[in-house]
Amino acid sequence: MKDLTQDTTRDTTQDTTHGELHSELAGTFDTTAMATETTLLNPRFYTTDFDEMDRIDVTPVRAEWDALLAQMKSDPNKGHFKKTEAWDKVDWDGMDPALRTEFIDFLVSSCTAEFSGCVLYKEMKRRGTNADICELFNYMARDEARHAGFINDALREAGVAVNLGFLTKAKKYTYFRPKFIYYATYLSEKIGYARYITIYRHLEAHPEQRFHPIFKWFREWCNDEFSHGEAFALLMRTDPKLTTSFTNRLWIKFFLVAVYSTMWVRDHARKDFHAALGVDIDWYDQEVYRKTSAIAKQVFPMEIDIDHKAWIPNLNRMNAAMIDMEKGKRKGGLSGRVAHATASARAMLAFARLYLIPVIRSTPPANVRLEPTY
Ligand SMILES: [Fe+2]
Ligand SMILES: [Fe+2]
Repeated sequence: MKDLTQDTTRDTTQDTTHGELHSELAGTFDTTAMATETTLLNPRFYTTDFDEMDRIDVTPVRAEWDALLAQMKSDPNKGHFKKTEAWDKVDWDGMDPALRTEFIDFLVSSCTAEFSGCVLYKEMKRRGTNADICELFNYMARDEARHAGFINDALREAGVAVNLGFLTKAKKYTYFRPKFIYYATYLSEKIGYARYITIYRHLEAHPEQRFHPIFKWFREWCNDEFSHGEAFALLMRTDPKLTTSFTNRLWIKFFLVAVYSTMWVRDHARKDFHAALGVDIDWYDQEVYRKTSAIAKQVFPMEIDIDHKAWIPNLNRMNAAMIDMEKGKRKGGLSGRVAHATASARAMLAFARLYLIPVIRSTPPANVRLEPTY
């Protein structure tokens, strides 16, 4: 029976890949295939050592923990993720095709990222026995399910919703040790907050560039991400070694550089999308890093020096190398493989240069908790 199930999964995956090719030819989108694909840049699904996470004792941060959990329990965004009269009619057919492609790519990638959180948090809740941990992950899974569902509603209007049930089964899961989950997830929650609020504030000042109603929902939305980030900050505070030991500092720097540079490459692939919003991508990314770094000082003993003269040039080198890697992959054959290998060496070199930029050291405050202020 087991083999049969595996075969079915494999067959469906092949169908999807085939369907993806077909829809590229037909000019439509197989968003489920886009979301399922595992690349360096696509949002991933994670799994971890759930038993180790279940053993966390939140006693050292009890007061802050209880306050945060009470706020999550009160569920301030309970009624937020519903279409209201503020949801203007979207003219998908009249949208410029290049913008439509990039916007759908943006929505699929955001939906996958939200759903990735949902799957991980739900699994932790399901496997856990620790009441504090289970309660937290239950609230966070609730929020991420709403977020993913709301984006998927927007995709459904364009006739291209992601099959989330299929995704859970077909997507590859990346294993991360719990401490890496903390660094990566903490950062992705805080970056999520910074990205959503920066777009929201920009469109508040330039409403004529709001080409889709979903952006109107970003302010309350990003407060959920902010609280999720707060929870991971508290989890990290339960064990000071996680943010103070020499090795862990190197890992934190690694995750900061990896997450920031991935965002740079991903955003620079969406020129028409950002042009439609009237957002300069370099400005936007730097602004998001600035906000994220200011927030992350609550728990990380450093920030990346994004004003260093080597920062942007090496992000651009990395972006160019990633574009060439993709070209090599598409070309195929021996010359394609050589081109891919050369470009990937260039990407690694650019990453090493980014990593070697000295950090700005800081001392996290005694109290972790912050409020969203942007
Ligand atoms: Fe979310
Ligand atoms: Fe979140």
